[in-house]
Order: sequence, then structure tokens, then C-alpha cells
Amino acid sequence: MDSAARALGAEDVVAAIRAEAARRGVTVDIARNGSRGMIWLEPLVEVETDAGRIGYGPMDAGGVAAIFDGGPSLGLVEDLDWMKRQTRLTFQRCGVIDPLSLPEYEAHGGLAGLRRAIGMDQDAIIDEVKLSGLRGRGGAGFPTGIKWDTVRLARADRKYIVCNADEGDSGTFADRMIMEGDPFCLIEGMAIAGIGCGAVQGYIYTRSEYPDAVAVMRRAIAIARKAGVIGPDVMGSGRAFELEVRVGAGAYVCGEETSLLNSLEGKRGVVRAKPPLPALEGAFGRPTVVNNVISLATVPVIFEKGAACYADFGLGRSKGTIPLQIAGNVARGGLFETAFGMPLGEIVQDLAGGTATGRPVKAVQVGGPLGAYLGVDQFDTPFGYEEFSGQDALIGHAGLVVFDDTADMPGMARFAMEFCAMESCGKCTPCRIGAVRGVETLDRIAAGDGAAVALLTDLCETMTDGSLCALGGLTPYPVMSALRLFPEEFGAMKGAAE
Ligand code: NAI
Ligand code: SF4
Repeated sequence: MDSAARALGAEDVVAAIRAEAARRGVTVDIARNGSRGMIWLEPLVEVETDAGRIGYGPMDAGGVAAIFDGGPSLGLVEDLDWMKRQTRLTFQRCGVIDPLSLPEYEAHGGLAGLRRAIGMDQDAIIDEVKLSGLRGRGGAGFPTGIKWDTVRLARADRKYIVCNADEGDSGTFADRMIMEGDPFCLIEGMAIAGIGCGAVQGYIYTRSEYPDAVAVMRRAIAIARKAGVIGPDVMGSGRAFELEVRVGAGAYVCGEETSLLNSLEGKRGVVRAKPPLPALEGAFGRPTVVNNVISLATVPVIFEKGAACYADFGLGRSKGTIPLQIAGNVARGGLFETAFGMPLGEIVQDLAGGTATGRPVKAVQVGGPLGAYLGVDQFDTPFGYEEFSGQDALIGHAGLVVFDDTADMPGMARFAMEFCAMESCGKCTPCRIGAVRGVETLDRIAAGDGAAVALLTDLCETMTDGSLCALGGLTPYPVMSALRLFPEEFGAMKGAAE
């Protein structure tokens, strides 16, 4: 049911399995699940046996007969190197259970966290989140417990929990995979947030480009409501929590929390000035938790296993696990959940297996279109919030896009400015006008005007310091990192670029 698997032909494979079973006169139970995250093996067929699940992939309709004949397989899926090396906490059920089966969800640890939270006071719930060290997985890394506490302590007639599912970064798909592969996990996390902060209404704001995720989430909400997991009396606790999915029209800036709130309210998706913080004046002017899908979907496992257990994983102030999303020019792309701290080089060269083209890696862009490029000499950087900011980079939503040595870095820098110009909400001058001037300046550099490099540097400083939100404020990251790493491609001397 994962849309990446479906895009790669999963529906044809299912039809072929049905036809082959009918032709042979055998009965086969077909369960549709989410993805394990090994996208290079999708469509992946898993056959349930006494020993465990045997994998076959990447599968096409023509290969189905061989499964029935006991043809060569990948072996036990759990034993594949990619699976064995992970610490799957948030994604523990993804690709394992039927996403829309509440009994299967419960049988695999689901609802244990919510049950525990219901028996706790609000401040104990918040303390548990603080103790876990969970930080915003959308990219900014703000401590989730402190955000929740701000909302809990705010005085208001209504409060809201808003899930930011407007996953817009290039090369990211973790939010989509959870919504399609384990939607009850997000619902459970939001219900815990609602009870902890005293909010009775939640919204999942997602994008129209995610039609499968929207459909699965809506069906899951209806099932959860019918089962009493959400609604007027959450699991017999006497507390209420309702949920609704709202779909945006596909503007990158609507992933910025205040722009998202405007869009959610039916207004134009333009950025609001902060303060006031959404935690104090958010949706419909009320105190609002705005958290990313992965932050909220990680809450159930924290309550199921305990905050101390979660905080035991990770490195420094980056506690717990992070779902890496590996994409671009790689031999093996997909989702890999691991404790913070894995060096970038191990992710790219070892897990991803280097480039798909077999050429040397030139750079990796981490954190979406506004993320910095990191070169091979930065490959020993451990994956963590502080470790990346120490390299003038960010982990963002943990998307990694790999490029080989044929990448045109001035072209990539131009793309960043072009993207910003196209997606700018237009509210502030450094971004609205700066991005357009950035494209022009990069064109001057490409035409051989080396003196324009200083102008570009100056412009980037203005955008960083003067933009109202991260869209204009972070666009200089890819531009300046490309210039720093490959000054000769911009016609600049290394010293001058630094
Ligand atoms: P921010 O640092 O301004 O805020 C982070 C969060 O903490 C916000 O929700 C903010 O309201 C909250 N916050 C800050 N101070 C607070 C306080 N004292 N009490 C309670 N809450 C408080 O960062 P921003 O602008 O929200 O996000 C920027 C990040 O977004 C970047 O680091 C980037 O990595 C990421 N990003 C993610 C994308 C995605 O597709 N997931 C796309 C683009 C950027
Ligand atoms: Fe809008 Fe760009 Fe300014 Fe953000 S930085 S408020 S997107 S104009």
C-alpha cells in the first residue's frame, strides 16, 4: 500500500499473485502493508513461513510464478543487513502490519503508550516527553516537551494539536511512510499530546500531492473513532480528543508553521511574524502545538518503553533515533531508522552503497532544498543536530540526496535561488527580491564575472540575517556551501570563497 511500492508496480504484482493462485487452484491470503523502507527492493513480496517472512524483490508480474515454485529468495527479511542494522522504534510496525488493522496495531505494541498516558497527570505526561529528550523532527530540533508545556500552561478556552505533515523537502518520505504504513501510531501520538496539553481537537495538515496518505489517514481516523481510541471519551478516560485531516494545495512554504496555520484556517499561506509563537497564539488564535509527523509518531513508543529507554539511544543532545531518508544518486535508497550519531560517510558509502552510477560521490545535500552540501572530507561528521550545525549545515528532516562527480554545483546553487524565488510567500524583501537577484548574480558568475562572487556572498548574508522565515533564511546554505566546497567551479579562489 506504500505509494513508492505502488509507483514501482505493486498493484500489478498483487494482480499477478491472485491470477497465479487461481491458475494453480491454491488459496493465498494477501495482506497489503506499508514499506520496510528498502525502496530498491520494492515491490517487495514477503511470504509468511514458520521460520519468519521470506522476501522476494524487486518483484514484477513476470517473477510471480517463481515464488510459487519456491524460486530464489532474499531469505528472511529481518535478517537482511539493512534491517538488522536498524534501531526501529518509530517505524517498528511499518511494513509489518496491515496499516488499517487496529487489532494488529495493538498486537504489535500499539495503544500501550496511550493507555499509560491516560493514567498520568498532565505534568507527568509532559515530564515524560521532556525526559525522553525528543526534539522536533521537522528540522528545527526544538525540545518537544518544552513546546507542549508552553501550550499546557497557556490560559485559553480551546487549544489545538496540529500535525505538520506538509512534507516538502526534496528526498524526504518518512512522514508519508508513517501515514501510509502505520497511521494509528500518529493518531495515538496526537491523542497523547491532546491529553497532555489539554487540547480536544487535532488537525493533520498534509499536501494534495499525498493522495494515498490522505485516504489511509482518513480511514484510520474513522476506525479509531469507531473503536473509541479518539472521540468524546478517549479509551474510557473521560477525556475527549477529535481529529481531522486538512489538505493544502501544495506550496512549499505551507510547511512553515505559521503559513501552515493560515492555510489550515482557509487563508492564503503567507508567513506570520513571530512572536506571538503558535504555542501561545496559533490555530484560530489559540495556543497550539505544531509538531512534525515523526515527532508525534515517536511519542507512543516513548510512553510504551519509557522515556529513559528512548533517551538511552543517540549522541549528546540528539537523543533517540532518527529515520534517515536516503535518496538521489545511490545504489540503495530508502528509509533507515537509527540512533543519532552514525557518521555521514557510513550512511552514504556503506548503507547506501555509494552512487548508482558507480562514479565517486561529489557531495551530499542534507536537509532538503535549503540544506547545505557536504563534501567527502566532512564524511566523519556524526548525524546529530549540533554536529551538523558545527559544519554550517543542518540535518533538517533527515533527507540525504547524493550527487556524483558530474554534478554542476553552480547549477545547483542557481536552483536553490530559483526555488526560493518560486516558493517565496512574498512577505519580506530579503527573500522576495533577494532570491531573484540571487539567480541573476549566479548567471553573471556563470558568464565569467568573477567579481560577482563577492556580491553573492553579501546577498546571502542579507538573506540569512534579514529573512522572516527559514525559506529565505536558509536558502544561502546550499548556495554558500557549494561555493565553499567548489570555489573553482564558480571561478573563485578558495581563500576568497571562504
Ligand atoms: P524555529 O527554530 O523558529 O522554531 C522551532 C519550533 O519551536 C517552532 O515550532 C516554534 O514555534 C517553537 N518554539 C520556538 N521557541 C519556543 C518557545 N520558547 N516556546 C515554545 N515553542 C517555541 O524554526 P522554524 O522556522 O519553525 O523551522 C525551521 C526549520 O525547519 C529548519 O531548521 C529546517 O530544517 C526545517 N525545515 C523543514 C522542512 C520539512 O519539509 N520538514 C522544510 C523546510 C525547513
Ligand atoms: Fe515569505 Fe520568504 Fe519572507 Fe519567509 S523568508 S516570510 S517565505 S518572503
